[in-house]
Amino acid sequence: MATSSLALHNVSCFSAEHVNAGTPRIQSSRAAGVFLSVKSSQSVPLNSFCGLKSVGACTSTNLHLEGDSLALLRSPPGGVRDLERMFTPGQARAAAYKVAVLGAAGGIGQPLSLLIKMSPLVSDLHLYDIANVKGVVADLSHCNTPAKVAAFTGAGELAAALKDVDVVVIPAGVPRKPGMTRDDLFNINAGIVRTLIEAVADNCPNAMINIISNPVNSTVPIAAEVLKAKGVYDPSKLFGVTTLDVVRANTFVAEKKNLRLIDVDVPVIGGHAGITILPLLSKTRPTVDFTPEEIEELTVRIQNAGTEVVEAKAGAGSATLSMAYAAARFAESCMRALDGDPDVYECAYVQSEVTELPFFATRVKLGKKGLEAIVSGDLTGLTDYEQNALEALKSELKGSIEKGVSFASNGATVAV
Ligand code: LMR
Repeated sequence: MATSSLALHNVSCFSAEHVNAGTPRIQSSRAAGVFLSVKSSQSVPLNSFCGLKSVGACTSTNLHLEGDSLALLRSPPGGVRDLERMFTPGQARAAAYKVAVLGAAGGIGQPLSLLIKMSPLVSDLHLYDIANVKGVVADLSHCNTPAKVAAFTGAGELAAALKDVDVVVIPAGVPRKPGMTRDDLFNINAGIVRTLIEAVADNCPNAMINIISNPVNSTVPIAAEVLKAKGVYDPSKLFGVTTLDVVRANTFVAEKKNLRLIDVDVPVIGGHAGITILPLLSKTRPTVDFTPEEIEELTVRIQNAGTEVVEAKAGAGSATLSMAYAAARFAESCMRALDGDPDVYECAYVQSEVTELPFFATRVKLGKKGLEAIVSGDLTGLTDYEQNALEALKSELKGSIEKGVSFASNGATVAV
């Protein structure tokens, strides 16, 4: 019996006309923030999440989709042409990519590893931590999804964890406690990221690197400097994961405006801390009208959402589950792009020329070689509120970037 597999990707879809000079122009007529993909698993295996089912068990009738999602299947945003394209055999390979999670025993690392284990695109999942990660691996290895899970504990096993990996996801480090900013984590996490990236440079220099460890505004520049010093820096492979800001913006806007969650897509630009997180509510898809009060309230809530979780956890850490969810989505997007999906867009904090700052988060197009294009069009046509907020965030973001760069050029390594 022919089976089909279906996945909903809440990707950033847009009609961007402006991308960086030297990069291809991007045009997409998609109106909604949801990309619906349907693939026949008879000849083409599923290439994205399939709920809690094993790959072979994913059929159009047993997926965890209800009325609205199934209606989308019948009437996908891209129309029939998209469906035909998605059904075309030969576009996807299953279980093809090696992923390493560095900091896999931690609060983000464990649920993140579980979500990555659910991806049929993963052939090997390497879990690394300084803490013993064997138990997590034994536990995860019982899940009947294709990824083979292996444990790597301690600095002596870091190189083996990274050997020939395609995607490295780094949640390692310490989380915030109430009253702390992300920058307060710099002294510990900066050294951890530097040491991990040195190992990435030595063992999998071509991998797509997804950095979650805070302060992301500084740890990504640190990683860039380390990779440069090792002679292997490829700006199109280095990403600060800001997906959680988009996930939160989508959720809060949908709640506020009574919209279906899967329909909403809000680009979030800038960085990943406080006022450097700038949701572009005027560019929300579908088009939504906000009062000035709603814009202020939503913007501040999105900027402080991490702190909201830190305070609710009252000393027990910061967001772990939603961060794992968001980071798994980004890792999955990287793998879909590596796999040849031509339609992968996410917001991410990357080396960029869209502003005078050397790193900036915008929507980006991902492709087989990593970052394919930056959607600079998001920075045109901003409202006065957004333009002012953009100018206001620049000095903080600049300081965080410079702090990272100067840290990377001196200092000792730490045990990770
Ligand atoms: C988040 O946004 O939840 C994370 O960056 C963790 C934090 O410290 O807020």
